[in-house]
Amino acid sequence: MKIINVAGARPNFVKIAPLTEAFRATGGIDSLLVHTGQHYDEWMSQSFFRQFEIPEPDVNLEVGSASHAVQTAEIMRAFEPVLLEHKPDAVLVVGDVNSTIACGLVAAKLAVKLVHVEAGLRSFDRTMPEEINRLLTDAISDLLLCSEPSGVENLRNEGVAEEKIFLVGNVMIDALVKNRPKADKSNVLERLSLGKGQYAVLTLHRPANVDDPLAFGWILDALEIIQQELPVIFPVHPRTRKNLDRSPLGRRVEQAANLRLIEPAGYLDFLKLTSSAKALLTDSGGIQEETTFLGIPCITLRPNTARPITTEIGSSRLVGADTEKIIEAWDDVRAGRWQVSRTPELWDGHAAGRIAEILVEKIR
Ligand code: UD1
Repeated sequence: MKIINVAGARPNFVKIAPLTEAFRATGGIDSLLVHTGQHYDEWMSQSFFRQFEIPEPDVNLEVGSASHAVQTAEIMRAFEPVLLEHKPDAVLVVGDVNSTIACGLVAAKLAVKLVHVEAGLRSFDRTMPEEINRLLTDAISDLLLCSEPSGVENLRNEGVAEEKIFLVGNVMIDALVKNRPKADKSNVLERLSLGKGQYAVLTLHRPANVDDPLAFGWILDALEIIQQELPVIFPVHPRTRKNLDRSPLGRRVEQAANLRLIEPAGYLDFLKLTSSAKALLTDSGGIQEETTFLGIPCITLRPNTARPITTEIGSSRLVGADTEKIIEAWDDVRAGRWQVSRTPELWDGHAAGRIAEILVEKIR
């Protein structure tokens, strides 16, 4: 059986690593990796391939950055000849980025079976580009592999046939479980002169937060207060960096001496930073899941989540870009008034193995 795996953006590489390994282990799946080139910087792309020891992509479409329409269209244009040449039995896409829907559409139109890993997640907020990507990818997928029960429920509510839906667990947690011993050896805390539990970590990259100076300003109002108490380590995403460079907010960030901007971190350093932090402040989806697994308080800078399990039984609390709510949540972290997380069902490090078994049975 021949499968083309697609990865394009930073969170995709984390998910594709355990999958390619599990496919190799079955012996029965011949898998090819296509990198769309949506992310291309060293710390957004290549470092993940090295740290996860993922083989070099078989094909790199090298599309780079552009508007949503242009980026999606360029990926489709470049991916079609790859499919025509390799004629796989299935295309596997992960997550909810533009590369996911672009390659999914090409596969569906060429009548190649489409497999979606992380299917069914919904924020019910169509202003998010990812929500559109999720809805459309799921609508054309043949196998929908879910990371949490809400995914299964959402797909059922949308009328997806029962035999296409599987709860398999979370491949991002597979990567975490496997790489934790290596991450423990990272010396990032020494390099940044940080003590365990004596700092917070911030990540921000959602357009709703960083492309809107008002929202970014409200978040900064809270950060200016929090950083007076302890260092806030802020690995800056390129989108966010660009916005800071051209806005007066950049000056405010510079003046907050304990808000420490660093380059985007590699996976192992970031895992070490996260697992030793007092709390995370983030608008990332994946980090809501990782902190749930690690039991670290996660102040989620979003008004909603596509991963409700992280707020139901995990350690994440939704506060949006609301200064007061961020500070209230911070006070609760300090006072230890925070829900201790429980590990969600099937977040056990073996999701990729279950996916391999399903593919062997269903695609063959
Ligand atoms: C994308 C995904 C988002 C995911 C995020 C993870 C979509 C719609 N969004 O958002 O869901 O959470 O990746 O990071 O697919 N840039 C660089 N170097 C790079 C890549 C990007 O400098 O390697 C800069 C470019 O200026 C680009 C901007 O970052 O315009 C945004 O990149 P893009 O891929 O369009 O979206 P992300 O914000 O990264």
